[in-house]
Amino acid sequence: MPEHKHEEVIITKKEVRITPKQQKSETQSSKATSAPKDELLSVSESQNTKDVSRKEKTIEDLPGVGAATAEKLKTTGYNDMMSIAVASPGEIIEATGMTESAAKKIIYAARNSLEMGFETGIDVLKKRENINRITTGSKNFDAILEGGLESRAITECFGAYGSSKTQLAHQLVVNCQINEPDAIGVYIDTENTFRPERIKQMAESKGLNPETVLKNVKVARAFNSDHQMLLSEKVEELIKQGMKVRVLVVDSLTAHFRAEFVGRGTLAERQQKLNKHMHVLLKLADIHNVCVYVTNQVMAKPDQFFGDPTEAIGGHVVAHNSTFRIYLRRGKKGTRVAKLVDAPNLPDAEAIFNIDESGIIDV
Ligand SMILES: Nc1ncnc2c1ncn2[C@@H]1O[C@H](COP(=O)(O)OP(=O)(O)OP(=O)(O)O)[C@@H](O)[C@H]1O
Ligand SMILES: [Mg+2]
Repeated sequence: MPEHKHEEVIITKKEVRITPKQQKSETQSSKATSAPKDELLSVSESQNTKDVSRKEKTIEDLPGVGAATAEKLKTTGYNDMMSIAVASPGEIIEATGMTESAAKKIIYAARNSLEMGFETGIDVLKKRENINRITTGSKNFDAILEGGLESRAITECFGAYGSSKTQLAHQLVVNCQINEPDAIGVYIDTENTFRPERIKQMAESKGLNPETVLKNVKVARAFNSDHQMLLSEKVEELIKQGMKVRVLVVDSLTAHFRAEFVGRGTLAERQQKLNKHMHVLLKLADIHNVCVYVTNQVMAKPDQFFGDPTEAIGGHVVAHNSTFRIYLRRGKKGTRVAKLVDAPNLPDAEAIFNIDESGIIDV
């Protein structure tokens, strides 16, 4: 805590020093070249001590969080400000054993540190201008997504075995390299179904060098749900090392969670963890302009008499956190059908495609 106080003293000093008039000379004389100009401007504009330090804060900076509490938070998955900012007091109490008022205080502080403010519609539109789209390989399939799978979003495909969820996963890590030879596809494989031979086939059919394509695919096998969550957090490190990660596959998103949390009593815990995992994925997608593709199984709905008697795993947590939801199933004569069932700005629609040796193609 003394550290925290120390920082505040400096901040106050800085704030007093910078008046709008002094602003210019202050900016010029500032030796802190790493502090961008607009950072100083915003200081004098807002006169807000909290805005001064843009250095990313860690959970140890929160009021009342000492080393022991920080450790408890970290071991239960609260590693950064965002995870605490979006948590409920009950979750924090459960993780740390702190009082309700202390929990509320740290959530409040975490929210304040994150500048979770509003931006204008124009800002959002501008942000959307640099969205990338990765082709599925089938024009029909791309058409229902207005050109392919979007970056800054989670696209979920759910469907029965053999419906081509994994085939699409392979196809995406290849296709992200078509127009950008140094693009990286990251593949978190939870079911041991990643096949480099398949990547080779798909790359060759696109006229790409299979060796190069394989080098640009980073695969990690996740052995359980904790491992899977950890791996998804590690992707940011790859990006910070300079890798142009364009697509992140999690195949399957839900299988480990489903296998590990059996029985009604464990459902809440499973959903909480899954929610946290998906938030990490969403944040990564948004901050680093990555296209996140996750697969999901279906389960039989025995009480359904009409329509499709299957339902995606993961309930509301997966449904709400997926930006685009696509239901994949086998169609006639070996075809596959993709049905867009949820998208923020696109109508529900269906597309038929095929899979052959070269990968996903039109019928
Ligand atoms: N080289 C290939 N040539 C043609 N079709 C292929 C080839 N490889 C795989 N397929 C097709 O893809 C199907 C497997 O699809 P995929 O592995 O994507 O299913 P999935 O939806 O991931 O299922 P699961 O739920 O079991 O993981 C095979 O049944 C086959 O029809
Ligand atoms: Mg699969």
